[in-house]
Amino acid sequence: ENDILSKLPLRGKKVLITAGPTYEAIDPVRFIGNHSSGKMGFEIAKASANLGAEVILITGPTNQKVAHSFIHVVPVTSAEEMYNAAHEYFNDVDVAILSAAVADYKPKEVASQKIKKNDSTLTLNLVKTKDILASLGAVKKQQYLVGFALETHNELENAKGKLKRKNLNLIVLNSLNDKGAGFKGDTNKVTFIDDKNTITQFELKSKAEVATDLLTKIIKEIDA
Ligand code: CTP
Ligand code: CA
Repeated sequence: ENDILSKLPLRGKKVLITAGPTYEAIDPVRFIGNHSSGKMGFEIAKASANLGAEVILITGPTNQKVAHSFIHVVPVTSAEEMYNAAHEYFNDVDVAILSAAVADYKPKEVASQKIKKNDSTLTLNLVKTKDILASLGAVKKQQYLVGFALETHNELENAKGKLKRKNLNLIVLNSLNDKGAGFKGDTNKVTFIDDKNTITQFELKSKAEVATDLLTKIIKEIDA
C-alpha cells in the first residue's frame, strides 16, 4: 500500500492498556484508593495510537483527558470492574500493558448506609482483590503481555519474580528510590526485564518518553 498509514508500525494491531488507581468502596460515600495519576497509562495509550494501534484504555478514576479516534476509553471504578473489562477485551488484542495501580485489598463488606462515627477506633476487614495481570497471564495465547512493578527494595529480584509468576513477556520496573520518579509525578526511572532475562536500564525520563521506549521495545519483540 502507498497510503501514509502503512508506515505506522502498529497499524492493524490492538493494544489493551489499564491505567490509574482503583477505588474500593467502604460505604456509599467512602472508598480506599491510592495516588496514581493515570499519567503513565494515558501516555502509553497516546503513543500506541500515534503508532497506528487501535487502543482499549481501561482506566480507573483520573483527571487525565484524551481525545484520539484510535483510543476507546473504558472507565471503571473498582478492581473487580477493571478485571471484568480486561477479560472482556483480552481475547482479541495483540498486546496488553497493565499499568494500573490496582488496589491489593478491598473491604470485605460494603456498608449499605454511611458508617456513623462512634467508638474511638474502627476496624475494617479487607480481602484480596483478584490479580488482573496474573489472571491474564494464566489464559494468555498470542498476546504480548506487559506488567509494571513498583518496588522499594530487592527491586530486580521482586520484578523478576512477578515476571515469572504472572507469565509475562516483559515487566517494567519502576524505581521509587530516585528523586522525581514515582507514580504521581511526570517522570519515571524504569528498567525493562523481558522473558529472555534481557535487562535494560533507563535514565530518569518524562512519562511520554518512557512510553516511547516501551513501545519501541514491544514493536521489536512482536516484529511489527
Ligand atoms: N496488578 C493487577 N491486579 C492487581 C494487582 C496488580 O493487574 N490486583 C498488576 C499491576 O497493574 C502491575 C503488576 O500487577 O502491572 C504489579 O503490580 P504491583 O503492585 O507492583 O505488584 P503486586 O503483584 O500487586 O505485589 P505487591 O504490591 O505486593 O508488590
Ligand atoms: Ca500491589
